[in-house]
Parts: sequence; structure tokens; C-alpha cells
Amino acid sequence: MSVPALEAPSIGAALRRGAARLRHAGVEAAARDARLLLAEASGQDRARLIAFPERALSARELAAYEAFLTRRARREPVSRILGRREFWSLDFAVTADTLDPRPETEVLVEAVLARLPAPGADLRILDLGCGSGCILLALLTALSGAQGLGIDSSAAAVEVARGNAGALGLERRAAFRVGDWAAGLVGTWQAIVSNPPYIKESEIEDLAPEVRGYDPHPALSGGPDGLDAYRVLLPQAVRLLAPEGLLALEFGAGQADAVQGLAEAAGLKVEDRILDLAGRERCLIATPFSRG
Ligand SMILES: C[S@@+](CC[C@H](N)C(=O)[O-])C[C@H]1O[C@@H](n2cnc3c(N)ncnc32)[C@H](O)[C@@H]1O
Repeated sequence: MSVPALEAPSIGAALRRGAARLRHAGVEAAARDARLLLAEASGQDRARLIAFPERALSARELAAYEAFLTRRARREPVSRILGRREFWSLDFAVTADTLDPRPETEVLVEAVLARLPAPGADLRILDLGCGSGCILLALLTALSGAQGLGIDSSAAAVEVARGNAGALGLERRAAFRVGDWAAGLVGTWQAIVSNPPYIKESEIEDLAPEVRGYDPHPALSGGPDGLDAYRVLLPQAVRLLAPEGLLALEFGAGQADAVQGLAEAAGLKVEDRILDLAGRERCLIATPFSRG
């Protein structure tokens, strides 16, 4: 007796089944993720998936979709499956060596842009712990007269950031180097930005599987109290900040007072503490005390 070939499911059926599978695996935004993965597997954008739910998938599209679903059901983030993440409405390549850029970090970009001089001004921006380069490159797209340097301890992350600069046409204004925060750097910078690792080491095992299993450990761990990086980079930043310059630092939930204390002890005046979209204090803006 011959076994009948399985009928290729329609887009609508594949989306429903995929979402159910992801939901069962504990994925929060299961329907959205199934849609993103099917869009990638079928080469169709979201609008077409919605407009033509009855279209049958080809065997190749179905196989690619199933493979993506299997990875997502193991809690690999969509951005890592696709190899890219949108940040500040720009596409960034992400790999196993870079933090997956978070939407909350856009608050820091916005806060810096609101405080810097006109977009064409000749500025130097330093990004400490640049990862994919998302903060620095987002700033440079908005500031046509600015140049920037991104530093990361991971050579592989620095390579990814360079690739992102090239893809965005910013390679002439953005340089990336391997380094230990700002050690050995000289010169002055009108803006220093950083989203350092700030999770307490003991809390890493409690993070969502998407984070603890896929973001690189050095991008997460801030040591026993989460503040190790701030203790090192704040005194370095003070030395490098132009008199009229500003420092923007991201931090984690409940760390605002401690990071402000470290910034003040290093010789900075905290001008502002910025909330993210969830209403949580997410970053601070500081300037040199000498500015008066
Ligand atoms: C939280 S991630 C931020 C990445 C990126 N700026 C973003 O917002 O998506 C922190 C980054 O700091 C880097 N890092 C950790 N220790 C460092 C050190 N001693 N010197 C420079 N970078 C370091 C990590 O490799 C990681 O890329």
C-alpha cells in the first residue's frame, strides 16, 4: 500500500500550528515569532502572509520553517535565528559573540541625541563595550558631522561591529577596536556612551533561556553586585570627557542610586536619570563637575 504524500499546509494553517508549538515551548510572543520565521522561510513579507493565508507552502519553504520552529522551540531568540536585529530602525547583524541589542537601549540613544549640539557638529563619540556597534552607529546615522570609536573586549564582537558599520555606510566615521574599557585611550570626547554588563553573577541562571543561553556571558555579567564595569570605566571616562561633554550610561533595574553614587565619586555631576518605556530608570546622563 502506498503512503499518501502529506498535503502542503497553507500559510494560515502553518502559522496557527507554528504558534501553538512555540506557545507549548513557553515562548511568550508565539504568534509574532511564528510569523517572523515563516516570513524568512518563505521570502514573503508580513503583509503578504496576512493577505494570502490560503497560499500553499512549497516543500522547501515548509522544511525551512520547520527547522526555524525547532530552534525557536529550544528558546533560541528570533534575532539569532535570522542573524539580524532591528535597532533604531536600522538592521544590525548579530552573532553568538554579540549581545542581542535591546529596544530599551534606544532610550539612551534618544537621550544623547536630545542633548548634543546640531546634527552637523564636529563631535567625537566613544562607545565602551560596543558589542554589535548598535549605540554608536545609531548615533552616527543621526549626527552627520560626528565620528566615533567603539571598544569591546571581544575581538569577534568588534568584527561584527565593523561589518555593521560597513553595511550602514558608516565605515569612514566609525572605528572599532579591541580594548579593556578605556584603558590606554587618549584624547577628549564630546560624548561617551556605554551599556556595560550589569547583571549580578548570581542572577544569571534565573534569566530567561533566550538570554542566559544565547547572550555572551561577558556581555551580561557585572560581577558579584552587577557594578564591576562601572567601577572601572567611570574613572577612565572622567579623564577622557571634554569639559562640555556628556556621559550616558545604561544600567539595570534598581541600580540607579548605586551607579549615580559611583559617577559622583568619580567626579561627575548626574544631570538626569532617564526612564525606559516600561517606566523603569534605565540610564543616566552625567557631565564633568568642573562644568559648573
Ligand atoms: C551589555 S553588552 C552591550 C553591547 C552593545 N553596546 C549593546 O548595547 O547592545 C556589554 C558589552 O561589553 C563588552 N565588555 C565586557 N567587558 C569588557 C571590557 N573589560 N572592556 C570592553 N568591553 C567589555 C562585552 O563584550 C559586551 O559586548
